Amino acid sequence: MSKDWWKESANGIPNIITDLPGPKSIKMHANASKYIRGLSSQVKQFPVAFEKAKGITMTDVDGNKYLDFSSGIYVTSLGHIHPKISEAISKWANKLMNCHDFTTPVKEKLLEKMSDVLPGSLNSIQLYSDGSSAVEAGIRAARAIGNHHEFISCFRDFHGKSMAAVSMAQMVRGDVFSYGPTRAPGFYMVPRPDPYRPLFKKDDGSIDTDAYISFYKEFIRESTVGNVAAFVLEPAQGWGGSIFPPDDYFPKLKKLCDEHGILLFADEVLTGMGRTGEWLCMNHWDVTPDIVTLGKSFGNGFPVTAMVVKDEYAEALDKISASSSYGGNPMACAAALASIEVIEEEQILENVQSVGAYFIKRMNKMKEDHPIIGDVKGKGFLLGMELVKDKTTKEPFDEAGKLVYQKAFSKGLAWIPAGHILRMSPPLIMDEKYADLGLDIIEESIAEVEKEFGYK
Ligand SMILES: Cc1ncc(COP(=O)(O)O)c(C=O)c1O
Repeated sequence: MSKDWWKESANGIPNIITDLPGPKSIKMHANASKYIRGLSSQVKQFPVAFEKAKGITMTDVDGNKYLDFSSGIYVTSLGHIHPKISEAISKWANKLMNCHDFTTPVKEKLLEKMSDVLPGSLNSIQLYSDGSSAVEAGIRAARAIGNHHEFISCFRDFHGKSMAAVSMAQMVRGDVFSYGPTRAPGFYMVPRPDPYRPLFKKDDGSIDTDAYISFYKEFIRESTVGNVAAFVLEPAQGWGGSIFPPDDYFPKLKKLCDEHGILLFADEVLTGMGRTGEWLCMNHWDVTPDIVTLGKSFGNGFPVTAMVVKDEYAEALDKISASSSYGGNPMACAAALASIEVIEEEQILENVQSVGAYFIKRMNKMKEDHPIIGDVKGKGFLLGMELVKDKTTKEPFDEAGKLVYQKAFSKGLAWIPAGHILRMSPPLIMDEKYADLGLDIIEESIAEVEKEFGYK
């Protein structure tokens, strides 16, 4: 199959034919909202109703066509309804939907393929159906491996909404988890390096990775009971705003973990399977984590996730049952297997590396031209632009972030808001033409917002 399968459906996008949200969207959303509660800010800020999608194009119920810069929510990374993946799912939907955790031909193939593409000895696998469950399994695995029970995670990381996952993230004031008791016992949080906003700096103002590592050493000694099972991190912060640490961070952190007998658990639910131009984001730093979780892009939109540990810890996985109602069902395995094959057949990693570099180059030019773009960040197709009121004070510009999001959406860009950091996660099949188209829309929206706030 040609890797241009999506291009015809992208002709002429965006194509906005009604006011947005359109009349059918408004009616449908109002009706659904009588029943469904707790919608994301993405939907609340722009309540359109979607009807269908193909490749990089999303179409709402009023017939408006959008350019997708979000991949759902970092999920449909190989393009919406990729023919090979949809066909693989429907084959098993018509043959065998579920047989608990018995082996199936498609599961056997998937496990072999995963072992091929994952680095080092990451070969011991459990399959789940959402990222939070995979993270919970990683926590159970870490406890089983070392018989330790404490966990260290990082400020502004996100790991899902299960009890262990919320214990490893910020407790938002007013959120149900902040009413207390909040963080589970034995869960601690520490800062991690953000090159644009470093907490620990050298004399010249640049980020001081060694100071973070020294702080962790002190922290482990003073704050824990010396029973730390794992350091749990996102390799790059997705929800936090596409923030990548400096290149020396993970090699130094792995060394620290090894010295203390602590496992390194990389939560790659968002960053894994090609999003940053490598199978795992950790490959950028040549660091193989002890535990990895995969999700989102893993099944290109089908709910399938995984928790993987190194061979040397395989026996510990036998202590934690992988049985779940849906984990590893044949349709899920088919989606994940076909997704991996598509990444290989369509040279997706190469595309993400080259078009990703193009994105960064163009975004850096935008930063030079716009007073409110304080920082540009990302690798591959995990990208962000940080809006500030003043480039010297770096004061976050949340109001501008919200307005840019809404303006760009109304010009036909389906994407993800996050306060003052504009987050982008386009489908990994995208070429430079559509990268430019999306960035043109964002740049036009930023220029309008700058004008409204009196910058130009
Ligand atoms: C890094 C990371 N871990 C875990 C999760 C939780 O995944 P899920 O929403 O599938 O439970 C997410 C979701 O956004 C995530 O970004």
